[in-house]
Amino acid sequence: MKLFLATVLIVTVSSLASGAIELADVANICENETLILNLSNSAEFDRNSIVSSTLRCIVIRSKYVNIKESSFENVPNLKYLDLRRNVISNRNLFSFGNISHLKILNLGYQDDSENNYNSEEITISSKYPELEYLDLAHNSISDIRVYWGSENPFPNLTHLDLSGNKIYSPLSLTLPPTLTHFDLSNNRISKFSFGELNNLLSLKLDYNNINALDHRYIDFKPLKNLENLSVTNNEIKYMRNSIENLVNLRYLNLSFNFLSDFDFKMIEDLHLLEEVALDSNSIDDVSISVPLNITTLSLNCNRIINITANSFYNLKNLRRLFLSGNMIQNIHENSFQNQKLLEELYLDNNDLNYLPPYWCQFTKKLRYLNLSGNRFTSLESVLYDSNLPVTQLYFERNPVTYINGSVISPEMTIFLNGDITSYMRSCIKKVPLGLMYG
Ligand SMILES: *[C@@H]1O[C@H](CO)[C@@H](O)[C@H](O)[C@H]1NC(C)=O
Ligand SMILES: *[C@@H]1O[C@H](CO)[C@@H](O)[C@H](O)[C@H]1NC(C)=O
Ligand SMILES: *[C@@H]1O[C@H](CO)[C@@H](O)[C@H](O)[C@H]1NC(C)=O
Ligand SMILES: *[C@@H]1O[C@H](CO)[C@@H](O)[C@H](O)[C@H]1NC(C)=O
Ligand SMILES: *[C@@H]1O[C@H](CO)[C@@H](O)[C@H](O)[C@H]1NC(C)=O
Ligand SMILES: *[C@@H]1O[C@H](CO)[C@@H](O)[C@H](O)[C@H]1NC(C)=O
Ligand SMILES: *[C@@H]1O[C@H](CO)[C@@H](O)[C@H](O)[C@H]1NC(C)=O
Ligand SMILES: *[C@@H]1O[C@H](CO)[C@@H](O)[C@H](O)[C@H]1NC(C)=O
Ligand SMILES: *[C@@H]1O[C@H](CO)[C@@H](O)[C@H](O)[C@H]1NC(C)=O
Ligand SMILES: *[C@@H]1O[C@H](CO)[C@@H](O)[C@H](O)[C@H]1NC(C)=O
Repeated sequence: MKLFLATVLIVTVSSLASGAIELADVANICENETLILNLSNSAEFDRNSIVSSTLRCIVIRSKYVNIKESSFENVPNLKYLDLRRNVISNRNLFSFGNISHLKILNLGYQDDSENNYNSEEITISSKYPELEYLDLAHNSISDIRVYWGSENPFPNLTHLDLSGNKIYSPLSLTLPPTLTHFDLSNNRISKFSFGELNNLLSLKLDYNNINALDHRYIDFKPLKNLENLSVTNNEIKYMRNSIENLVNLRYLNLSFNFLSDFDFKMIEDLHLLEEVALDSNSIDDVSISVPLNITTLSLNCNRIINITANSFYNLKNLRRLFLSGNMIQNIHENSFQNQKLLEELYLDNNDLNYLPPYWCQFTKKLRYLNLSGNRFTSLESVLYDSNLPVTQLYFERNPVTYINGSVISPEMTIFLNGDITSYMRSCIKKVPLGLMYG
């Protein structure tokens, strides 16, 4: 190999930070030395290019690198290999063949802006028995196959990043049950199945083509241990037999979809669920009929007009409630009667011109209130009680004409002059994927 063209760096690990991989793991593995080859030209590697019995971490950055089979054979302790952004074709992604102790493999972003590949399947013919983290993001992959007759190449995989590819249906590769973190964002999925991934903790399906969360298309049933589920920026219109059995779910984000209602009964048995986000859908009515333990509910940018005494009655543990960017005109005096733990309430960018007297008599923990961008003309139409525990009141962009200081408690800071540039708080609808790809 022509090393005279290379910048060779032996560095500490802080520069290896990587989105998909928990830095602590990399830091431990690459503690003492990492070989970074920053090549200005194309380069070729074979088994004699790098020889080291102690080296554990290698980073190669180049244009058009050719890595021959067994190139890392003489680096027997190699655990971390980062080959991102080298414009390697899909056919050659795993050209190095077996690496027996490899734990982290970063092969993402071969598909850079200059090199927009056609979608392609990749075939894996070697085995990586200790591999835990695999990053294959942004490579135009449509499917992953295993060379005929081979065993599962990744029996120990825990993290798999396939975001930004061209996957539209279930993979031919059977994913191992060891998988805990799976990122499938930014693909073309409308149907998918998750085999026996019963140890999966986190699943991301943002920016796909999912029309419905229905077990016939997207089957979450095997995911009994799932804690975080994000399916934002899809085209979900309805849900049926989908999330009801995810009894370990803690975080659910279905923002930026086409839901006109959300049946909270679906999450009735998810006792560990804490955060639910449904921003930027078309939900016009909230009346949560079943008791839920959730602490955060986000309904920004929907079409809610009225908040009634029943709306949130069943959410006794609510601490943060986001209702920004709706069309709320009426808030019933008893709307928050059960929210004794509520700390933050976002009502900015609605159509409110008054709040009923006593509206906050039960919310003794409320310390943050955002009422910016409404139609209030005075503070007295909001504050009836100088014992209100609110310490920060955002009241920008209201047609306030007069302020009566006697309703303000000494602990409260009122913000009247907001940043005008923050005016259009993101109620922007996403561009449908069909348009993005032309
Ligand atoms: C790094 O070097 C120190 C001191 O030589 C050693 O104790 C430690 O085990 C090494 N760490 C790794 C990951 O090799
Ligand atoms: C690698 O080289 C390119 C130019 O060839 C330079 O822009 C980049 O900063 C270098 N990266 C490192 C980590 O030295
Ligand atoms: C790679 O691993 C497979 C399965 O363990 C083995 O059959 C094959 O001989 C190995 N290839 C090399 C080049 O070591
Ligand atoms: C998974 O990796 C561990 C070491 O990290 C190893 O002991 C174990 O055998 C591997 N499992 C499989 C199925 O290869
Ligand atoms: C779930 O998401 C939260 C942040 O929303 C994060 O702190 C937590 O680590 C995630 N859990 C898993 C298993 O990824
Ligand atoms: C839900 O997802 C959207 C889109 O990615 C994000 O902007 C928002 O912060 C998420 N909400 C929560 C509560 O995590
Ligand atoms: C709330 O949590 C408690 C204990 O964590 C549990 O016993 C109860 O069933 C949960 N209630 C709901 C409605 O999820
Ligand atoms: C909202 O409440 C007002 C006043 O109580 C009522 O006239 C109106 O019909 C309600 N609108 C909706 C959509 O429920
Ligand atoms: C200011 O508010 C106090 C308490 O609500 C009220 O008693 C007083 O009349 C108000 N003053 C004016 C000038 O409106
Ligand atoms: C309050 O709401 C306004 C209007 O949406 C927004 O610009 C501002 O950032 C919010 N304030 C805080 C502290 O979140």
